[in-house]
Amino acid sequence: MKQNILITGASSGFGLLVATELHKQGHHVIGTSRNPEKYASRLPFKLIALDLDSEQSINSLAERVFAEVSRLDVLINNAGFLVSGIAEETPVELGRQQLETNFWGTIKVTNALLPQFRKQKSGKIITVGSIVGLVSFPNGAYYAASKHALEGYFKSLRYELKEFNIRVAMIQPTAFKTNILDNSSYASGKIDDYNQLRGKIESFTNNLVANAGDPAIVAGKVVKVVETDNPAFRNIVGKGTSTLIHLQHFAYGILEKNVLKQLNS
Ligand SMILES: NC(=O)c1ccc[n+]([C@@H]2O[C@H](COP(=O)([O-])OP(=O)(O)OC[C@H]3O[C@@H](n4cnc5c(N)ncnc54)[C@H](OP(=O)(O)O)[C@@H]3O)[C@@H](O)[C@H]2O)c1
Repeated sequence: MKQNILITGASSGFGLLVATELHKQGHHVIGTSRNPEKYASRLPFKLIALDLDSEQSINSLAERVFAEVSRLDVLINNAGFLVSGIAEETPVELGRQQLETNFWGTIKVTNALLPQFRKQKSGKIITVGSIVGLVSFPNGAYYAASKHALEGYFKSLRYELKEFNIRVAMIQPTAFKTNILDNSSYASGKIDDYNQLRGKIESFTNNLVANAGDPAIVAGKVVKVVETDNPAFRNIVGKGTSTLIHLQHFAYGILEKNVLKQLNS
């Protein structure tokens, strides 16, 4: 069935692949970018302006989306960026910016569209988190914090939206070859005490980059979640995660069942 889908950050990386594939499958896709005019002419789907750091941009989003479509079936929260660097060397202002964009920007976009989803009594909200929303790596503490925050928020939200028939899912990719590193912000301060660790982090990061996967794998997973009526909340994608997937199912399965049982009683 043809669906109306909004995907943030559709100019590059996962977002571009997902939007292109969903458009190809016949869905009505609206993508977003901070600079739609830069990309619009070469994209097959509609691209509208959205800056996660701008209240004004987010406040007018719903109006602009519903000028294009009368109902929205799926929101894919994908836009985000990476602040990397040793935590103590990272200016708090840069860390704040990381959470402002990745966490608060995503929450504000979701809130802007929830009234319509509730009115429709249907919808799906898919958010691209990260494996570092579940575990943390060095050299990206604020990025991990922003993804952990999203994880916790949506984990809670999905219970509250169930009665409105609004499904909530997260995608948790490991490292994949997109433009995320080129678009990232780096801490500039250097504290000598970290020099030894810095060398180790560099080889850890180089290894991560060398083994980064094909982003089409993540795009395929997102498309699958779009197509599934009642998708799982957690969708971990990438190499070396199978143990984590099993542990997650084991650890959370029982607790989650208990919460749902009480809410449904
Ligand atoms: N690549 C990985 O290994 C990996 C792993 C786990 C999770 N992720 C997550 O996947 C998502 C997509 O990242 P990607 O890897 O595809 O990176 P990417 O190629 O750099 O794409 C990022 C997208 O987000 C948009 N964006 C960035 N900052 C924005 C802002 N302030 N307001 C609005 N849009 C903004 C960009 O659009 P414009 O620049 O056109 O505005 C772009 O379309 C992110 O949430 C990222 O954290 C990536």
